[in-house]
Amino acid sequence: MHLSQRILAVKPSATLSINAKAAELKAQGQEIISLAAGEPDFQPPKHVLQAAKDAIDQGFVRYTPVPGLPELRQAVAGYCSKQYGHTLTPNMTIATNGGKQGLYSLFQCLLDPGDEVLIPAPYWVSYPDMVALAQGNPVVVPSSPDRNFRITPSDLQPLLTDRTRILVLNTPSNPTGSHYTQAEIDDIISWAVDNDVFVISDEIYDQLVYPPAEPATAGKWLQKHPMHVAVCNGLSKSFAMTGWRMGYVLAHPDLIAKLSTIQGQSTSNVCVLVQKAAVAALQGPTDFLQEQREVFQRRRDLALEHIASWPGISCPEPDGAFYLFPRMDTLYSPVIPDSTALCTFLLEKAKVALVPGGAFGDDRCVRISYALDDRSLVQALDRLKAAVCDLADSSRVHE
Ligand SMILES: Cc1ncc(COP(=O)(O)O)c(C=O)c1O
Repeated sequence: MHLSQRILAVKPSATLSINAKAAELKAQGQEIISLAAGEPDFQPPKHVLQAAKDAIDQGFVRYTPVPGLPELRQAVAGYCSKQYGHTLTPNMTIATNGGKQGLYSLFQCLLDPGDEVLIPAPYWVSYPDMVALAQGNPVVVPSSPDRNFRITPSDLQPLLTDRTRILVLNTPSNPTGSHYTQAEIDDIISWAVDNDVFVISDEIYDQLVYPPAEPATAGKWLQKHPMHVAVCNGLSKSFAMTGWRMGYVLAHPDLIAKLSTIQGQSTSNVCVLVQKAAVAALQGPTDFLQEQREVFQRRRDLALEHIASWPGISCPEPDGAFYLFPRMDTLYSPVIPDSTALCTFLLEKAKVALVPGGAFGDDRCVRISYALDDRSLVQALDRLKAAVCDLADSSRVHE
């Protein structure tokens, strides 16, 4: 069988494979606790579940328009208009199969072979491979834990070339949880507009921003610079609906039409039942969002306090998402030379699954997800601390 160069160049998602490895060890009877989850551990709100059941009973079984039911596009536009502070029309929206499909289709629409995409590191694992699948070149923009992994136009400027087409922003970030202020986003987008770079802003964690940090969005720029900005979002993280595959993109109507063409030739519409449930989510009460946010903020604080007691490990305080990204390279040695080796060691020794930072473009760190109950979280952190102390002691013995 001949496989294309394109597919041979793409790596499977590292987060999915570590979860699979942890599940395999669990199935063998080992007591693994996974801090590798990329999804909330909540149930979606009851009225959203009910809306899907009602849709079945009401006989919603057919294809819908490719970009989504008119009522859903209206709901997305209404929901985002409130957040962005200006009026969006339904033709500026498309419902996609998860946030992932929105991002994938955007790269397909906007890139020609060899075009460059600026991707601040640490980055969500899928961006570089999605860019490669669109025959673009990912250009990594390094950042520093000392600045909470946030970049500024001065980090972008040296990497600008006449092939630079897109900048990917992700706020709050997976894997760091770091979140830009509105002023920082405004600076970055001004720079992008001045240099004719298109900004794709992935805001899938936008409902998980912890006070005193405030929500911030590139969506504010859609009115003034619709030819330079698209926002990707979805219900996976905000409404704990990862398995339902409901994402959306906000962009200029001409770009939405192109996204719709790709979708029409590949997956067609999002499942009609999910679309009906999404209308209920976006137009319904918002207390779920607040409750989920409070629980995650409490867990973040609990985990940060715990990690502060680990020898030699530092962890910036993130303002959002449900991840911590501590720097662990003080534990590296000839036997454990990188983040993959460290995560393998911790999985075997502490029976805790983490994701190596190398998968996100920063091999100094590991990603810890706190999307699990408090008891298991504390138990996992206790086990990790014991293993980290052992490692720190043994490296001191060998000094
Ligand atoms: C940063 C980021 N963007 C996009 C996605 C895709 O989300 P979805 O499940 O809606 O496809 C994820 C999921 O993990 C993510 O972490």
